[in-house]
Amino acid sequence: MAEGQARILFVGDLVGSVGRHTLLDCLPLLRERYEPTFVVVNGENVAGGLGITPKVAVELLRHGVDAITLGNHAYHRREIYSYLDTEPRIVRPYNYLRSQPGKGACVVEKDGVRLGVINLSGNLFLKAGRSAFTEIEPAIKELGDVEHILVDMHAEATSEKIALGWLLDGRVTAVLGTHTHVPTADARVLPGGTAYITDVGMTGPRGGVIGVKREQAIESLVTQMPVRFETSQEDPWLMGVLVRCTTPRRADSIEQILMARPPGSDRAPTRPAAQAPS
Ligand SMILES: [Fe+2]
Ligand SMILES: [Fe+2]
Repeated sequence: MAEGQARILFVGDLVGSVGRHTLLDCLPLLRERYEPTFVVVNGENVAGGLGITPKVAVELLRHGVDAITLGNHAYHRREIYSYLDTEPRIVRPYNYLRSQPGKGACVVEKDGVRLGVINLSGNLFLKAGRSAFTEIEPAIKELGDVEHILVDMHAEATSEKIALGWLLDGRVTAVLGTHTHVPTADARVLPGGTAYITDVGMTGPRGGVIGVKREQAIESLVTQMPVRFETSQEDPWLMGVLVRCTTPRRADSIEQILMARPPGSDRAPTRPAAQAPS
C-alpha cells in the first residue's frame, strides 16, 4: 500500500450489548463495502451502557477492532483500570490527570501504515483535569512519526469541537467528535485537509433517549425524581464515518455512515430497525 493510503472507519459510542452486537452485525457489510484499513470505535458506554470491562474490550479487539477510545465514562467499571495501563490499543482522554489510569494516545499499524489515535475530553460541562487545547500538542508529539492521526474529541460543547478542528486543520488526518450520541450534519474536509465532524453519533438504540429507555428518561424529567436507567433495545443503528486518505495526515473525504442493524440478526433479542438507512 502506498505511503499514506488508508481508509479509517470510526464508529461512535457503542451503547450496551445492543450497541456491541449492532457493530458486530454491521462489520462484515462495512468491511465489504468500504474495505477499511483501520476500525476504531468509541467504547465508553459499551458495558451495560456505562463504561467498559476487559472482557468486552477483548471481544471487540478479537473481532478486528484496531483501537478503542473512551470518554467521561472511562472509569465507571473498576476492573478496567489495570487493563487501561497494560493494553496498548485502548485510550482514555489524554487531558485527564497523569495520575489517572491509562494513557491518552496509541499507535496501531496495518499494511505498513501507522495510525496514531488520540482521545481528548472537552472542558466545558465535563470533568477533565487539563485543557484539551494545550494537551493536544504533547499528544501529537508523543505519537512520533506516523502516517495518520485520528483525534476523538469527546465533548459536550459543539464550540470546543469546531475550534479543535480548526486548530488541528492540516496537522492531523481527522478530528471526530463523540459524546452527544446524536450525529451532526457537518462532516467535511477542512481547507487544510483534516476530516471533521462535530459528532458521529452513537451505535445503539434510536428508540431511546441517547441510549436510555425512553419511558425512564421521560419519567425522570417529568417527576424530577431518581429513576433507574436501563439501555433501550429498540431500533439499533450503527453511526460512524469513513475517512479516505491517500496522503499522510490528510483526508481526501469523510463519509457519514448511518446504518440500521441488519434484520434477522440472532445475537440478541432486539427488534429490527423501523426504517431504512438515510
Ligand atoms: Fe457516550
Ligand atoms: Fe460521553
